Amino acid sequence: MAPLAQQLTRPAVSLRSLTRSFDGRTVLDSVDLDIPAGQFTALLGHSGSGKSTLLRAVAGLDHQVVGSGELTAPERVSVVFQDSRLLPWRRVLDNVLLGTEGNKEAAERGRVALAEVGLAGRERAWPSELSGGEQQRAALARSLVREPELLLADEPFGALDALTRIRMHALLRRLWERHRPSVLLVTHDVDEAIVLADRILVLDEGRIVLDLTIGRAHPRSYRDPLLGEYRERLLAALGVREDVPSEDGLVTKDSK
Ligand SMILES: Nc1ncnc2c1ncn2[C@@H]1O[C@H](COP(=O)(O)OP(=O)(O)OP(=O)(O)O)[C@@H](O)[C@H]1O
Ligand SMILES: [Mg+2]
Repeated sequence: MAPLAQQLTRPAVSLRSLTRSFDGRTVLDSVDLDIPAGQFTALLGHSGSGKSTLLRAVAGLDHQVVGSGELTAPERVSVVFQDSRLLPWRRVLDNVLLGTEGNKEAAERGRVALAEVGLAGRERAWPSELSGGEQQRAALARSLVREPELLLADEPFGALDALTRIRMHALLRRLWERHRPSVLLVTHDVDEAIVLADRILVLDEGRIVLDLTIGRAHPRSYRDPLLGEYRERLLAALGVREDVPSEDGLVTKDSK
């Protein structure tokens, strides 16, 4: 593998003037973005701001976006969603190996990947026998088996309880450190983004309105007061003020 400094100079993802509309409504409005190879980036934004639309485009899942601008992404891309999307009729290892059948090397990588996410010994379990967190770990193992250059994750921890989420954060960061794919993590959770990512983007009204580099060493603590400054800037970009409580404790742009 090339040295990290060299990897970081080569963009893995490049968008130029990427635009996407649905029924005449513009959701992505001429977005420009470069994600260097090996960078861990998070994408924040209100519900409906176009995060999943952007991720689907980068994943190559949106064929209609082609021609609206320029989009470059690596060949080996893995996507992890909020639900694990494990096939219930396939055992855990067979789910992890989906699409790599007959490849002996992949089978071994599948076992290694399951061990990396703490699921050694569960290869022959059915997905229904795993907890929600274990299913998401199996989904991460499945994404790793493809040795992705780019890992796209759309709120992968959104359905998990708070404790499991924190454990998953540490796991994802560890896996990233070991494999060094570029990561684009879509999340609603400002703290999740700050603790995990080295760069955070905020999407609003079809555009990237904030592009923030987090210059703090890892592992980061949720309690680190210096992270509070980033939090404030991100919440401001999201149009959320913490100073004036409303019914739900927050004042949002919409309720101002
Ligand atoms: N296939 C589609 N057809 C029509 N409209 C769509 C389609 N996909 C997305 N949209 C619209 O585009 C907008 C952005 O959707 P998107 O799923 O990207 O939002 P999001 O930021 O991921 O939201 P959330 O945080 O709730 O997941 C929404 O208003 C949605 O209704
Ligand atoms: Mg979404």
